[in-house]
Amino acid sequence: MIESRGLRFQYDSGFEALRGVDFRLEAGQSMALLGPNGSGKTTFLLHLNGVLRGEGELKVCGLPVEPRHYVAIRRKVGFLFQDPEDQLFLPSILEDVCFGPLQTGLKQAEAEARAKAVLEQVGIRGGWDRPPYHLSGGEKQRVALAGILAVQPEILVLDEPTTHLDPPARRHLLELLQSLPQAKLVVTHDTAFARALCPRASFFEQGQVLAEGPTDEIVQRFNWAI
Ligand SMILES: Nc1ncnc2c1ncn2[C@@H]1O[C@H](COP(=O)(O)OP(=O)(O)OP(=O)(O)O)[C@@H](O)[C@H]1O
Ligand SMILES: [Mg+2]
Repeated sequence: MIESRGLRFQYDSGFEALRGVDFRLEAGQSMALLGPNGSGKTTFLLHLNGVLRGEGELKVCGLPVEPRHYVAIRRKVGFLFQDPEDQLFLPSILEDVCFGPLQTGLKQAEAEARAKAVLEQVGIRGGWDRPPYHLSGGEKQRVALAGILAVQPEILVLDEPTTHLDPPARRHLLELLQSLPQAKLVVTHDTAFARALCPRASFFEQGQVLAEGPTDEIVQRFNWAI
């Protein structure tokens, strides 16, 4: 589902954020991406849908990540940003979650039905005409996730999906993600969440994948539990 070889990227500032990333994600696999602040995890994710472009090889669902495939890739990759503020932009929750399905050609009524179903799934029941900026951090995160699930992507790429969530909401998200068949790549500092959701983990450091293996082993080796 994802294959990266020797991926390198430098920000305009000259900072080399990715220094040869080798990474693989198989269909149906759930992988945690662990590693220190500033190690390049978000930068790597932003390459998967072409928001950033580096040098080296990168394929998503078998397609090289280059402009001619962006539309196809963005349909296959459901991307939850680190900051849900970056994701929600329409005047109401329902419109926001309908946006993706409408883009893929669904009729208004079908898009709304699907949006309501995924909003229920993420635990936002009713009040769908509220503006997203009136929501709490955790509610925004759930609505953003609903927007992604609504387009039924092949891979879920989640950048710190639990940061704003209270413990029951984390548990609910865990169960929801466990029930979804898609491949998942989850960047998180929440090791308990990573262990429960992802059998394997990759550890990032200074723009490279330093190690990959069973999540418990990686957590232990890098002393990564709080
Ligand atoms: N727009 C930018 N311009 C210059 N440098 C940047 C930019 N965005 C990120 N960086 C730098 O690139 C490095 C990697 O950042 P990135 O956001 O990928 O880290 P991360 O592993 O996701 O960290 P965190 O765990 O804190 O989210 C950091 O040192 C950061 O300062
Ligand atoms: Mg990050």
